[in-house]
Amino acid sequence: MHVGIIMDGNGRWATRRGLARLIGHKRGAAQVKKIVKSCPELGVETLTLYAFSTENWKRAAHEVEGLMKLFRGYLSNNLVELHEKNVRVRFLGDPTPLSPDILGMMQTLGNLTKNNTGLKLNVAINYGGRDELVRATRAIARKVELGELDISDINETCIAEHLDTNGQDDPDLIIRTAGEMRLSNFMTWQCAYSEFAFVEESWPDFTREVFESTLENFHSRTRQFGAVVTAQNKFTE
Ligand code: FPP
Repeated sequence: MHVGIIMDGNGRWATRRGLARLIGHKRGAAQVKKIVKSCPELGVETLTLYAFSTENWKRAAHEVEGLMKLFRGYLSNNLVELHEKNVRVRFLGDPTPLSPDILGMMQTLGNLTKNNTGLKLNVAINYGGRDELVRATRAIARKVELGELDISDINETCIAEHLDTNGQDDPDLIIRTAGEMRLSNFMTWQCAYSEFAFVEESWPDFTREVFESTLENFHSRTRQFGAVVTAQNKFTE
């Protein structure tokens, strides 16, 4: 099962408590650790976390810098544990504008864990679903230009193979915290058949228990993928 999470509400969580927004992000980063840890026990095989969008650069410079500092901390402090726990880490998004030290840590973690067979953890940093499609389209066009690909070879499989999630299943469930009901450019292509869960809790309050009950709710739904539900497939999907 693949779950995508839009981790929203860190800022509001902090503001409500009279704290700086960055404190909310810090609590959010601690929550990331707990939720990642709970995935194998909860039957989640792939987890995609929306950590920083292509639009998040528009935030105040000190907030962007604070978030980058948190990413640095997460990447350096969790490298050994993620590898020991057999997690395979992949990064989604366009890495080019990220600072070289963060890029280096991302590469180290990605390379170190690439053959791991446990949880597949995707961290989306400088990610936008539309930007991902633009980058994929350019990569495909380049291959056509070079004669490596024929226009008639461009189909859904070909497009999926040029996305950052290449080789992975689409998300079964996309969760957004903090009560907002929008996707904000998250997994634009991959979400075609996803189920959605919009929960009221802000990300720092998204505990393992809330995660578990959200997953239970998902498992009680019947997914049809455009087909007609029969008594037989109702219980097998
Ligand atoms: C949205 O809350 C959250 C973000 C833009 C950043 C998410 C980052 C983290 C959870 C911390 C670090 C992540 C990792 C992978 C270590 P918001 O600021 O938009 O909240 P608001 O809508 O209440 O203002």
